[in-house]
Amino acid sequence: PCKLVVLLSGSGSNLQAFIDACKNKQLPNTEICAVISNKADAFGLVRAQQAGITTACIDHKQFGSREDFDAALQAKIDEFDADLVVLAGFMRILTPGFVRHYLGRLINIHPSLLPKYPGLHTHQRAIDAGDKEAGATVHFVTEELDGGPPIIQAKIPIFDGDDAATLADRVLSKEHTIYPLAAQWFAEGRLSLRNSKAVLDDKNLPENGVL
Ligand code: GAR
Repeated sequence: PCKLVVLLSGSGSNLQAFIDACKNKQLPNTEICAVISNKADAFGLVRAQQAGITTACIDHKQFGSREDFDAALQAKIDEFDADLVVLAGFMRILTPGFVRHYLGRLINIHPSLLPKYPGLHTHQRAIDAGDKEAGATVHFVTEELDGGPPIIQAKIPIFDGDDAATLADRVLSKEHTIYPLAAQWFAEGRLSLRNSKAVLDDKNLPENGVL
C-alpha cells in the first residue's frame, strides 16, 4: 500500500476527508500511518485517534531553530517509511533541507487559486481585491513558499455577501474533494514531479486541471 503521513496544526477537516476516502475505498491501496501535529491541542489529533491512527505531537516551541524542529519532524516521519507526506493545514514554514528530503513526495493544499495569494489571509485578500472567484490548490512542495508545481485546483464563485468566513467554508468543502483525489492519483502511480512540473498520466483530466 501507499503509506501516508499527514502533518497538521488544527481542525483536520482535510485529514477527515482522507480518513473517509480510505474508509469508502476511494483510496483503496492507501494507509494513513501517522498524523503528526506541531500543536498538542489540534483537533486533527482527536480525529486521528478516533480513527485508530497513530499520532504524535512535535511542538515547534521546544526547538531553538527551524532546522532543529524540522530534523525532529523528519526523524518522526521517517519512522513510518512514508511514501507520501501530506500537509493538511500544517502552519509551519519548512526548511529547504526538509523540503529536499521529500521532494516529489510532499504535497500541500493552499486555500487560494495559486499563484494568487501565497501566505496567509487568502480569502480576505481575494475579497478585498474584488475577485469574482476563489478556490484552493493542491501542489507539490518546493523550497518556494506556496510556489511549487500545481496538481489540481478547485474554483468557486465569490458572492456579494461573502466574508472571509463564508468563503473559507465553501472553499474548504471543495478542498475535501480535490485533496484525496490528488493522493489517489499519487497512490495509483499516475502522479509525479518531473522537471519541476506535476505530471499526471490521465486521459480523463478535467479541463485545464480545474475541477
Ligand atoms: C485549509 O483551508 C487549508 O487549505 C489551509 O488551512 C486549512 C486547514 O483546515 N492551509 C493553509 O493555509 C496552509 N498555509 P483543516 O485543518 O480543517 O484541514
